[in-house]
Amino acid sequence: MDVFEAMNTARAMRFYKTDPVPQELLDKVLWAATRASSPNNTQAWHFVVVRDPEQRRRLGEVVAPLAERVKGFPDPGNQVDRRTLKGAANLSATLGQIPVIVLVCGRNVYPAHQPQETMMYSAMYAASQNLVVAARALGLGAAFTTLHHLGERQMRDILGIPDEVYIGTVIPLGYPDGPTGPVSRRPVEEVVHYDHW
Ligand SMILES: Cc1cc2nc3c(=O)[nH]c(=O)nc-3n(C[C@H](O)[C@H](O)[C@H](O)COP(=O)(O)O)c2cc1C
Repeated sequence: MDVFEAMNTARAMRFYKTDPVPQELLDKVLWAATRASSPNNTQAWHFVVVRDPEQRRRLGEVVAPLAERVKGFPDPGNQVDRRTLKGAANLSATLGQIPVIVLVCGRNVYPAHQPQETMMYSAMYAASQNLVVAARALGLGAAFTTLHHLGERQMRDILGIPDEVYIGTVIPLGYPDGPTGPVSRRPVEEVVHYDHW
């Protein structure tokens, strides 16, 4: 699949099969993530790749309560938001069974005289997007998420992530078990301004 098709169809996947991800594909996806841009090429990122079933189960336990909470949310009143809520509930209920969970982490080191979190997040997010698009190009599903907000302290303890290292994203990775297809985005003409706003 070429890069344009991968970008056009890299939906946030919230339903996965439990089939394992071949290490060869995982290597490629991680390679792509580490090709991203970063401020002054600092590359101050780290990737915690969780494959161990017990570690995944423990991460799954951290986010599982969201699935229960979502059940109590009011009906959003439209199909798209209903689907997103159903997906969010499924993702949090099943995270522990998804074959790979990647935590994209970063150190706040740039600029050296006055490090800025925005700089650090820019690198973590660029790497995350590369990862998601590469996964799609290889026939895998992935989702750019910030699920760590549901229990960051517990995730740090489970994975031994040092306190000075930030967690940027939590990306499930596996073979999709849900519909893929084009992403829904605003038309180019609506958001592009040539030469003047
Ligand atoms: C910074 C950021 C945080 C996100 N956090 C979550 C999340 O916690 N859970 C989730 O299911 N999706 C999350 N997403 C994915 C978006 O919700 C998703 O990309 C968007 O709704 C568009 O859907 P699509 O990519 O499938 O077209 C996040 C995306 C970004 C950029």
